[in-house]
Amino acid sequence: MKRIITVLIMLAVILMVSGCDTAKTDGEHQSTEIISLAVQPSSLEMYAGERRTFQLAATLANGEVRDLTSTPDFTYSSSLDNAVIVESGYIQVNDSILEESIEVVFSSNGRRDTLKIKVSSNPITAFQVTEEGRALVNDASRYDVVVNKSLHLTSEYVPENLVIPAVAFPESYQGALEKMHLRDEAATALEKMFTAAKEEGLELYAISGYRSYSLQDRIFQYQIKRHNGSEEEANRISARPGESEHQTGLAMDISAKSVDFKLNQTFADTAEGQWLAENCAEYGFILRYLKGKEAITGYQYEPWHFRYVGVELAEMIMSEETTLEEFFMNLSTQ
Ligand code: DAL
Ligand code: ZN
Repeated sequence: MKRIITVLIMLAVILMVSGCDTAKTDGEHQSTEIISLAVQPSSLEMYAGERRTFQLAATLANGEVRDLTSTPDFTYSSSLDNAVIVESGYIQVNDSILEESIEVVFSSNGRRDTLKIKVSSNPITAFQVTEEGRALVNDASRYDVVVNKSLHLTSEYVPENLVIPAVAFPESYQGALEKMHLRDEAATALEKMFTAAKEEGLELYAISGYRSYSLQDRIFQYQIKRHNGSEEEANRISARPGESEHQTGLAMDISAKSVDFKLNQTFADTAEGQWLAENCAEYGFILRYLKGKEAITGYQYEPWHFRYVGVELAEMIMSEETTLEEFFMNLSTQ
């Protein structure tokens, strides 16, 4: 009998508790209903393989804003199958995607919001291999193109819109020399950078910008002679034709009067060299061949060689003190 009473009491307690719960959940349900969903940012430009953080916030009927980002309380679908993975507050684009615009729709309790992603291929994987086994970059006109000992340009490639920037060149330069040119956007950025340096009392000189395949060939042959016939030694400082980013029209070698307009490592110790290393990113340039990175870039430290990549990319690369190659190799872990 005692047992039956105990069971009956337990049942009554269970019923009371669950009854209370149901009443409470109904009330709560109305006030905690999601009335809108917002993904931030609402649009992104990403490289294939890149991983970024995002935020998904739900606004509830009671006015509360709930962060759903790292919860299982939402689903997502993309306009292209298997284009993205959303996990633990990160969104990652599949690394096999080429140029593509995709939409990722986030849903929770019937509410939705869309994130638009413009995907670009990763420059270090965007190439085609010729019959001779050379990897040629797919699009040499990209501001983020990577040209190095592994990724080449054709002998025919000449960038469009080459102009001579309105900056100081050594007095010995007469007329419109090929090496005085840069792509127009890079030229405008260079002018701004030189003007800013001048305001700080520093006179920069542009030494060598665009170089055609054949000019690069002549320079490389000259460097072999300077290095007593050693191609290998010459190639630590000078690119073979088709392997120089000077051919893109996006690189400029810069020097100063105090080092007699020379391109050597003493430029790093000048006020001009130091100002450039500190400020170049603000104008969209990076120091391309860093000290201690020869194994990655293929070239010795070149404190005079600046490469235009655009402000956003330049600021990321220079603040991470990394190389263009490493930046694109490590996209998925940034
Ligand atoms: N000095 C750089 C590596 C070039 O020749 O392009
Ligand atoms: Zn250079």
